[in-house]
Amino acid sequence: MGNVHVLDHPLIQHKLTYIRKTETGTKDFRELVDEVATLMAFEITRDLPLEEVQIQTPVSEATAKVLAGKKLGIVPILRAGLGMVDGMLNLIPAAKVGHVGLYRDPETLKPVEYYVKLPSDIEERELIVIDPMLATGGSANEAIESLKKRGAKQIRLMCLVAAPEGVEEVHQEHPDVDIYLAALDEKLNEKGYIVPGLGDAGDRLFGTK
Ligand code: PRP
Ligand code: URA
Repeated sequence: MGNVHVLDHPLIQHKLTYIRKTETGTKDFRELVDEVATLMAFEITRDLPLEEVQIQTPVSEATAKVLAGKKLGIVPILRAGLGMVDGMLNLIPAAKVGHVGLYRDPETLKPVEYYVKLPSDIEERELIVIDPMLATGGSANEAIESLKKRGAKQIRLMCLVAAPEGVEEVHQEHPDVDIYLAALDEKLNEKGYIVPGLGDAGDRLFGTK
C-alpha cells in the first residue's frame, strides 16, 4: 500500500493500547488521544522544510534554522477529530484550524456533510485532516473532496486507527494524499467498525452513546 506511514514510535504504540481497551473511561481516553495527537504531530512534521537565517546569540552571530515553506492548517472531521486538535496545536500553535462536519448514516454508512468552515487562505496552506478513525474511508474522502473543491492543494490525512479497506478507498480517490496512522488494523466488521479498533471514537471521547 503506497503513501501510508504507520508511526510506530513506542510511546504512540503504548498509549494506543490503553486507548483501545474497553475499560479506559472518557477522561483517560480523552487525555490519551490528546497525547498521541501531539506525538503524531511531532512525527508528521519531520519533513517540513527549513531555511537558514542569521541570528545573534548572547555569544556570537550564528546561522540557524527556522521553518520555511507553506503554513499549516489543521482540519478535524467533526466530531471525533476535535479530540486531536489541542494535541496538535501543542506543537504547531500557529496553525489555523478549519472544521468539516460529517456523520456516517448508520444505515448506509455514507457520510453526510453538515458543516464546513475553513481558513480563507487554504490554497496556500498545507492541510492536515485529522480524524481518529479511517473505516470505510467515506468520511475522509468526503472531507478531502470538500477541501479540494474549495481550493486546497496540499493535503495529508492523519488518523489513529485505520482499516485496510479505508486506506485503499482513500488511495483510489485521492492518490496525492499521504496517510499517517498510529495503527493499520485487520479489517472492518459487518457494521463498518474497525477490528480490533477502539469502538466508537466520538462516543468514547464525549461520553455519549
Ligand atoms: C466516525 C469517525 C470518522 C468516521 C469513519 O465518525 O470519527 O469520521 O466515523 O468512518 P468511515 O471511514 O466509514 O467514514 P462518526 O460518523 O461516527 O461521527 P462522530 O465523529 O460525530 O461520532
Ligand atoms: N467510526 C468509529 O468511531 N469507529 C469505528 O470503528 C469505525 C467508524
